[in-house]
Amino acid sequence: MSDSPVRIVGFSGSLRKASLNTALLRAAAELVPPDVTLDIIEICGLPLYNADLILPPSGLDEKPRYPASVEPARQAIAAADALLIVSPEYNFSMPAVTKNVLDWASRPPNALDEKAVAFTGASPGGMGTVRGQMALRDVCVFTNMHAINKPELFVSQAPSKFDKDLKLTDEPTREALGKLLASLAAFARRLKQR
Ligand code: FNR
Repeated sequence: MSDSPVRIVGFSGSLRKASLNTALLRAAAELVPPDVTLDIIEICGLPLYNADLILPPSGLDEKPRYPASVEPARQAIAAADALLIVSPEYNFSMPAVTKNVLDWASRPPNALDEKAVAFTGASPGGMGTVRGQMALRDVCVFTNMHAINKPELFVSQAPSKFDKDLKLTDEPTREALGKLLASLAAFARRLKQR
Protein backbone atom coordinates (compact mmCIF):
# COMPACT_ATOMS: atom_id res chain seq x y z
CA MET A 1 0.00 0.00 0.00
CA SER A 2 1.37 3.44 -0.88
CA ASP A 3 1.69 6.24 1.67
CA SER A 4 -0.47 9.35 1.47
CA PRO A 5 1.16 12.10 -0.62
CA VAL A 6 3.23 14.73 1.14
CA ARG A 7 3.99 18.11 -0.41
CA ILE A 8 7.21 19.70 0.80
CA VAL A 9 8.31 23.17 -0.20
CA GLY A 10 11.90 24.24 0.27
CA PHE A 11 14.02 27.33 0.00
CA SER A 12 17.72 28.09 0.06
CA GLY A 13 19.07 30.82 2.31
CA SER A 14 21.72 31.78 -0.22
CA LEU A 15 21.04 33.92 -3.28
CA ARG A 16 24.34 33.43 -5.10
CA LYS A 17 24.39 31.42 -8.33
CA ALA A 18 27.05 28.94 -7.26
CA SER A 19 25.55 28.43 -3.81
CA LEU A 20 26.38 25.12 -2.16
CA ASN A 21 23.14 25.33 -0.22
CA THR A 22 21.01 25.83 -3.32
CA ALA A 23 22.85 22.87 -4.85
CA LEU A 24 22.00 20.82 -1.77
CA LEU A 25 18.34 21.85 -2.07
CA ARG A 26 18.32 20.79 -5.73
CA ALA A 27 19.75 17.43 -4.71
CA ALA A 28 16.99 17.09 -2.10
CA ALA A 29 14.35 17.58 -4.80
CA GLU A 30 15.81 14.52 -6.58
CA LEU A 31 16.04 12.38 -3.45
CA VAL A 32 12.48 12.60 -2.12
CA PRO A 33 10.86 9.25 -1.32
CA PRO A 34 7.92 7.93 -3.38
CA ASP A 35 4.66 9.85 -2.85
CA VAL A 36 6.58 12.95 -1.76
CA THR A 37 7.14 16.09 -3.83
CA LEU A 38 9.56 18.93 -3.13
CA ASP A 39 8.92 22.25 -4.84
CA ILE A 40 11.56 24.94 -4.60
CA ILE A 41 10.36 28.43 -3.69
CA GLU A 42 12.15 31.32 -5.35
CA ILE A 43 12.85 33.99 -2.78
CA CYS A 44 15.30 36.31 -4.52
CA GLY A 45 12.54 38.87 -5.24
CA LEU A 46 11.39 39.13 -1.63
CA PRO A 47 11.84 42.66 -0.25
CA LEU A 48 13.26 43.12 3.22
CA TYR A 49 10.43 42.85 5.72
CA ASN A 50 8.66 46.17 6.10
CA ALA A 51 5.23 46.38 7.69
CA ASP A 52 4.48 49.48 5.63
CA LEU A 53 4.27 47.24 2.53
CA ILE A 54 1.29 45.36 4.02
CA LEU A 55 -2.22 46.69 3.41
CA PRO A 56 -4.14 46.34 6.66
CA PRO A 57 -7.59 44.69 6.62
CA SER A 58 -10.35 47.22 5.95
CA GLY A 59 -12.99 45.14 7.74
CA LEU A 60 -13.29 42.39 10.32
CA ASP A 61 -13.61 39.66 7.67
CA GLU A 62 -10.58 40.77 5.69
CA LYS A 63 -7.02 39.55 5.95
CA PRO A 64 -3.94 41.76 5.57
CA ARG A 65 -2.82 42.06 1.93
CA TYR A 66 0.82 41.32 1.15
CA PRO A 67 2.82 42.67 -1.81
CA ALA A 68 2.78 40.66 -5.06
CA SER A 69 6.49 39.93 -4.49
CA VAL A 70 5.66 38.23 -1.18
CA GLU A 71 2.27 36.55 -1.58
CA PRO A 72 3.39 33.56 -3.76
CA ALA A 73 5.99 32.46 -1.20
CA ARG A 74 3.54 32.89 1.68
CA GLN A 75 0.88 30.90 -0.15
CA ALA A 76 3.25 28.14 -1.19
CA ILE A 77 4.41 27.68 2.40
CA ALA A 78 0.87 27.82 3.79
CA ALA A 79 -0.36 25.18 1.33
CA ALA A 80 2.53 22.76 1.88
CA ASP A 81 2.53 19.87 4.32
CA ALA A 82 6.13 20.52 5.27
CA LEU A 83 8.97 22.97 4.84
CA LEU A 84 12.64 22.23 4.13
CA ILE A 85 15.07 25.04 4.93
CA VAL A 86 18.52 24.65 3.39
CA SER A 87 20.57 27.49 4.73
CA PRO A 88 24.14 28.64 5.13
CA GLU A 89 25.39 29.70 8.55
CA TYR A 90 26.46 33.34 8.77
CA ASN A 91 28.30 34.55 11.85
CA PHE A 92 27.12 31.56 13.89
CA SER A 93 23.47 32.20 13.01
CA MET A 94 21.20 32.20 9.97
CA PRO A 95 21.65 34.71 7.12
CA ALA A 96 19.26 37.65 6.91
CA VAL A 97 17.92 36.07 3.71
CA THR A 98 16.66 33.03 5.61
CA LYS A 99 15.23 35.05 8.49
CA ASN A 100 13.51 37.42 6.07
CA VAL A 101 11.53 34.58 4.49
CA LEU A 102 10.45 33.39 7.93
CA ASP A 103 9.54 36.91 9.06
CA TRP A 104 7.29 37.47 6.03
CA ALA A 105 5.73 34.01 6.34
CA SER A 106 5.03 34.41 10.05
CA ARG A 107 2.78 37.47 9.79
CA PRO A 108 -1.00 36.97 10.04
CA PRO A 109 -2.32 34.56 9.10
CA ASN A 110 0.90 32.75 10.15
CA ALA A 111 1.85 30.51 7.21
CA LEU A 112 4.28 28.62 9.46
CA ASP A 113 1.77 27.66 12.14
CA GLU A 114 1.89 23.91 12.92
CA LYS A 115 4.18 23.32 9.92
CA ALA A 116 6.49 20.33 9.93
CA VAL A 117 9.98 21.59 9.17
CA ALA A 118 13.46 20.18 8.67
CA PHE A 119 16.76 21.99 8.29
CA THR A 120 20.01 21.23 6.64
CA GLY A 121 22.90 23.30 5.39
CA ALA A 122 26.33 23.23 3.82
CA SER A 123 29.53 25.05 4.65
CA PRO A 124 33.13 24.82 3.48
CA GLY A 125 34.27 24.50 7.11
CA GLY A 126 34.10 21.62 9.53
CA MET A 127 30.88 22.39 11.38
CA GLY A 128 28.43 22.23 8.48
CA THR A 129 25.99 24.90 9.80
CA VAL A 130 25.49 23.40 13.28
CA ARG A 131 25.03 26.77 14.93
CA GLY A 132 22.88 28.18 12.15
CA GLN A 133 20.52 25.23 12.50
CA MET A 134 20.33 25.71 16.27
CA ALA A 135 19.32 29.34 15.66
CA LEU A 136 16.56 28.12 13.34
CA ARG A 137 15.22 25.93 16.14
CA ASP A 138 14.67 29.07 18.26
CA VAL A 139 12.54 30.60 15.51
CA CYS A 140 10.32 27.51 15.55
CA VAL A 141 9.15 28.36 19.06
CA PHE A 142 7.51 31.71 18.36
CA THR A 143 6.28 30.73 14.90
CA ASN A 144 4.87 27.41 16.20
CA MET A 145 6.64 25.23 13.64
CA HIS A 146 7.40 21.62 14.52
CA ALA A 147 11.01 20.77 13.67
CA ILE A 148 12.09 17.18 13.34
CA ASN A 149 14.89 16.36 15.77
CA LYS A 150 16.44 13.41 13.97
CA PRO A 151 18.26 12.85 11.75
CA GLU A 152 20.39 15.98 11.72
CA LEU A 153 22.42 16.74 8.61
CA PHE A 154 25.38 19.09 8.68
CA VAL A 155 27.20 19.13 5.36
CA SER A 156 30.77 20.11 6.26
CA GLN A 157 33.71 20.49 3.83
CA ALA A 158 30.96 20.96 1.29
CA PRO A 159 32.98 21.91 -1.81
CA SER A 160 34.47 18.40 -1.83
CA LYS A 161 30.98 16.85 -1.94
CA PHE A 162 29.78 18.43 -5.19
CA ASP A 163 31.17 18.16 -8.71
CA LYS A 164 32.02 21.13 -10.94
CA ASP A 165 28.37 21.36 -12.02
CA LEU A 166 27.30 21.51 -8.36
CA LYS A 167 25.77 18.05 -8.41
CA LEU A 168 25.89 16.36 -5.00
CA THR A 169 28.22 13.42 -5.59
CA ASP A 170 29.08 12.37 -2.05
CA GLU A 171 27.18 9.12 -1.53
CA PRO A 172 26.94 9.22 2.31
CA THR A 173 25.53 12.77 2.09
CA ARG A 174 23.00 11.71 -0.56
CA GLU A 175 21.92 8.83 1.65
CA ALA A 176 21.65 11.07 4.74
CA LEU A 177 19.64 13.63 2.80
CA GLY A 178 17.24 10.92 1.66
CA LYS A 179 16.77 9.84 5.29
CA LEU A 180 16.14 13.42 6.40
CA LEU A 181 13.44 13.79 3.75
CA ALA A 182 11.84 10.47 4.68
CA SER A 183 11.76 11.50 8.35
CA LEU A 184 10.23 14.89 7.47
CA ALA A 185 7.56 13.24 5.29
CA ALA A 186 6.68 10.68 7.98
CA PHE A 187 6.38 13.43 10.58
CA ALA A 188 4.20 15.57 8.27
CA ARG A 189 1.88 12.58 7.75
CA ARG A 190 1.56 12.12 11.51
CA LEU A 191 0.71 15.83 11.95
CA LYS A 192 -1.91 15.63 9.18
CA GLN A 193 -3.58 12.61 10.78
CA ARG A 194 -4.09 14.31 14.14
C1 FNR B 1 30.15 32.98 6.29
N1 FNR B 1 30.57 31.66 6.37
C2 FNR B 1 30.43 30.96 7.56
N2 FNR B 1 30.61 29.60 7.63
C3 FNR B 1 30.40 28.93 8.80
O1 FNR B 1 30.56 27.71 8.83
N3 FNR B 1 30.05 29.61 9.93
C4 FNR B 1 29.85 30.96 9.96
O2 FNR B 1 29.50 31.50 10.98
C5 FNR B 1 30.05 31.68 8.74
N4 FNR B 1 29.85 33.01 8.68
C6 FNR B 1 29.81 33.67 7.48
C7 FNR B 1 29.37 34.99 7.42
C8 FNR B 1 29.24 35.61 6.20
C9 FNR B 1 28.71 37.02 6.14
C10 FNR B 1 29.57 34.93 5.01
C11 FNR B 1 29.42 35.59 3.65
C12 FNR B 1 30.04 33.63 5.06
C13 FNR B 1 31.03 30.93 5.17
C14 FNR B 1 29.86 30.26 4.47
O3 FNR B 1 29.63 29.01 5.09
C15 FNR B 1 30.19 30.04 2.99
O4 FNR B 1 30.37 31.29 2.37
C16 FNR B 1 29.14 29.24 2.28
O5 FNR B 1 29.64 28.79 1.04
C17 FNR B 1 27.87 30.05 2.07
O6 FNR B 1 26.87 29.23 1.52
P1 FNR B 1 26.53 29.20 -0.07
O7 FNR B 1 26.39 30.61 -0.54
O8 FNR B 1 27.65 28.47 -0.74
O9 FNR B 1 25.24 28.42 -0.13
